[in-house]
Amino acid sequence: TRVWRGLIEEYRDRLPVTTATPVVTLLEGGTPLVPARRVSALTGCDVHLKVEGLNPTGSFKDRGMTMAISKAVEAGAKAVICASTGNTSASAAAYAVRAGLTCAVLVPRGKIAMGKLAQALVHGAKLLQVDGSFDDCLEMTRKLSESYPIALVNSVNPYRLQGQKTAAFEIVDALGDAPDVHCLPVGNAGNITAYWMGYKEYSADGPATKRPRMLGFQASGAAPIVKGAPVTHPHTIATAIRIGNPASWRLAEAARDESGGAIQAVTDRQIAAAYKLLAQEEGVFVELASAASVAGLLQAREQGLVQDGQRVVCTVTGNGLKDPDWAISGAPAPVTISIDAHAAAMALELA
Ligand code: F0G
Repeated sequence: TRVWRGLIEEYRDRLPVTTATPVVTLLEGGTPLVPARRVSALTGCDVHLKVEGLNPTGSFKDRGMTMAISKAVEAGAKAVICASTGNTSASAAAYAVRAGLTCAVLVPRGKIAMGKLAQALVHGAKLLQVDGSFDDCLEMTRKLSESYPIALVNSVNPYRLQGQKTAAFEIVDALGDAPDVHCLPVGNAGNITAYWMGYKEYSADGPATKRPRMLGFQASGAAPIVKGAPVTHPHTIATAIRIGNPASWRLAEAARDESGGAIQAVTDRQIAAAYKLLAQEEGVFVELASAASVAGLLQAREQGLVQDGQRVVCTVTGNGLKDPDWAISGAPAPVTISIDAHAAAMALELA
C-alpha cells in the first residue's frame, strides 16, 4: 500500500521547493475523482467530480496554503494575513497553527458561511469582520502586508497557485490523460489560472497528450469577467464567489483564451438546483459556490458549447458542511415523535 504524503512531497519536482523549505502540511491533496452517473446521464458526457471538499480544512485552498505557509516560514515570516470569503481564512488559520505563525484574517461582515467562521475562530486566528466586500478586504490586506511585517497568503502570492496546480496533475494521473473539458467556479480567479498552469505543464513535459478547454463560471450577480467591468456591489447566494474585482482577472482570461474555453455566468437559481442535484442524485454534498461548476456544465451543454460524449471534469471546490444554514433552510423540517416504534413506523409510512 502507498500512503499519500501531501502534495509537496508527491509533486516536489514540479514545485518551487528545495531541501531548505520546511514543509508545512496537513497531508492535503490526493482527493477523489468521483464518476458522476446522474450528471453524465443528463449531459451525455463522461463527467467526473474532483471532490476538493475532502481536503483537510474542507476546500481546495489547502493546496495553495501548504505552499504559501511553507514558503513564508522559509522566508522567516512570523505572521500571515489574508482577505477571504471564508475558505482561505479557514485554511490559513489551520496551516498557521501547524507552522506556529500568527494569522490575521479580514472577512466581509455577515457574508461568510458559519462553518468557515467557526474554523478561523477555533484555530485561533485574529479575525476582523469588515463592513465592506471581499474586494475591500483584499485591498486592505495588500496595504497592510506592504506596511507591516506580515506575509500575504492570498492567491496573489505566487506560491498559492503553484500548490493549486497540482489538482490538474492528480486528474491526469487518475484518468491517464487530460479531460476534454474542465469546469470550475470562478471567484478571485486564482484556481482557474492554477489548473491551466498545471494542465499546460503536464502536456509540455508530462503524461498528458492534450489540454482541456477551460470553462469558468461566475454567479450572475458577481460576474465581472463576463461583463468586462468590475462589479461594485456583487451579490449571490454563493458567498464564496461573491467577488466584484478578481485579482487574477487577466490570467483567467488568458486561461480561457489559450484553452479555447469560456467564462460564463450562472444564476443563483441554477446554482441552487445543481447543489440539490449533487446532494440528492450523486450523494456529494458541496457548498453553493462549488455547484456553479455543474450548473455551468448543464448550461454549456444546452448551448452546444460542449459536445456529446466528451470527458468532463467538474471541480467541486468546498464541502457542503461549511454552510449548514443554507442546507437546513432548504430542507423539510424533521418530524418529532415520542419513544414509540409504532409512531416511527407511521411517520416513516411503513405502517
Ligand atoms: N469555490 C469556493 C468554495 C471558494 O471558496 C472559492 C474562493 C472559489 C470557488 C473560487 O476560487 O477565487 O480561485 O476563483 N474562495 C476565496 C476565499 C475567495 O477567500 O476563500 P477562485
